[in-house]
Amino acid sequence: MSKNIARKVYNISVIGAGHVGLVTASCLADLGHKVCCMDNDSAKIDLLQKGEIPIYEPGLKELVSTNTLQGNLFFTNSMKEAVAHGEVIFIAVGTPPKESGEADLSYVENVAREIAQLMDSYKLIVEKSTVPVETGEKVKNTINLYIEKDVPFDVASNPEFLREGSAIHDFMHPDRVVIGVDSERAERVLTEIYGPLNAPIIITDIKSAELIKHASNSFLAMKISFINAVSRICEKVGADVEKVAQGIGLDKRIGQEFLNAGIGFGGSCFPKDLDAFIHIAENLGYDFKLLKEVKRINEEQKRLAVQKIKDVLWIIKDKKIAIWGGAFKPETDDIRGAPVIDIINELLNEGATVSLYDPQAMENLKIIFGEKLHYADDKYQAIEDADCLVIVTEWDEFRNIDFDFLRQRMKLPFIVDGRNIFSLQKLQDKGFIYCGFGRPQITNSKSGVKK
Ligand code: UDX
Repeated sequence: MSKNIARKVYNISVIGAGHVGLVTASCLADLGHKVCCMDNDSAKIDLLQKGEIPIYEPGLKELVSTNTLQGNLFFTNSMKEAVAHGEVIFIAVGTPPKESGEADLSYVENVAREIAQLMDSYKLIVEKSTVPVETGEKVKNTINLYIEKDVPFDVASNPEFLREGSAIHDFMHPDRVVIGVDSERAERVLTEIYGPLNAPIIITDIKSAELIKHASNSFLAMKISFINAVSRICEKVGADVEKVAQGIGLDKRIGQEFLNAGIGFGGSCFPKDLDAFIHIAENLGYDFKLLKEVKRINEEQKRLAVQKIKDVLWIIKDKKIAIWGGAFKPETDDIRGAPVIDIINELLNEGATVSLYDPQAMENLKIIFGEKLHYADDKYQAIEDADCLVIVTEWDEFRNIDFDFLRQRMKLPFIVDGRNIFSLQKLQDKGFIYCGFGRPQITNSKSGVKK
């Protein structure tokens, strides 16, 4: 159990056992609270009750099993049970994008309505899902509309900033906790719950808290697109974006993180939240052109990966392209919004043969691409006789490799490094043709077709 034990133990329910819901529920249980995690997907709840975790998140399995054994965490598919258990109810259901980019809030509305019909004592209902500004108000109206017993309730916004792959660490050691409330009682309860984390707590009104989430994610996405735009200039003049990023990032006002140039961002949050924020602004009469450009630059980076292959191979029809990495980032099996999807589709459209390896995401990739690709058992099998290797995800196991072996086994010693993980000097010495992003290209004369 966490060393930061809650001083007051709350009965908490978390609705939604997705990535955010599961991590939130198990971390709150680890702080000593009595937590019920509810999902209407009975198959998922069956798995969780058996101690199996439906997603890959380092440390989560252990956290769930310890806290289940200690009696601090249990799972149910019954909304009735969840509402009866929790004085505090976190809503962590999905808010998937509609065709237009707008968030679909029907799951949130559904949960709010069900809570209203079932509650028979005070409840603090907390939005944890990423939702547009003013959702808190709509949740409150919905509860007022459907409430059956005369009991008080509060609504609050408490956005999450968890990164996949380090979600437990991010929950337990946040840079800040944001709490949007409109009552003293709600403020007190949430401050008590988060107090033991010893992080700065920002108390705001509900709308400001809702905006902080979209603004944070959009800002981070903007940082990535900014450095990617700078990387294009670096390429034109032969400068090194790694050095430029270091030089600007050491200015504390800018900061060094999220300045890694490459094939761009993916995931279940940045692409979706950007679209949603652009849409929210549009609905409010503001054309957020800056964010539209952030999105455009990101799309361009993926196309650039294929362009870099073409610049060297000219025609890619019937060429064998090896891809290392598919997950949208390391330490996850998640391929939602992952750049690899567009890259593979483009390669297949051009008639290339694709051989793919990812340490965790293979099963998810098979669901999308089926028989269209070759799925390699390991990284070295993927590059056998390949005309080019593309690095898409910077897993640790791709960082330290035997370049001599690679050179021997590939048809051409040619690497497109979408995450800039390799040393230019090393690749130069080993005779590779190398295209990073925003770095000097190596068009090595020592390369050539394997004898
Ligand atoms: C993000 C936010 O970081 C988190 O606060 C929020 O709660 C959810 O969305 P996540 O999507 O898990 O988290 O991943 P993150 O580590 O932020 O990376 C997002 C994408 O940006 C990845 O595809 C990553 O490869 C890419 N990225 C990140 C870059 O291309 N360059 C960088 O410098 C940093």
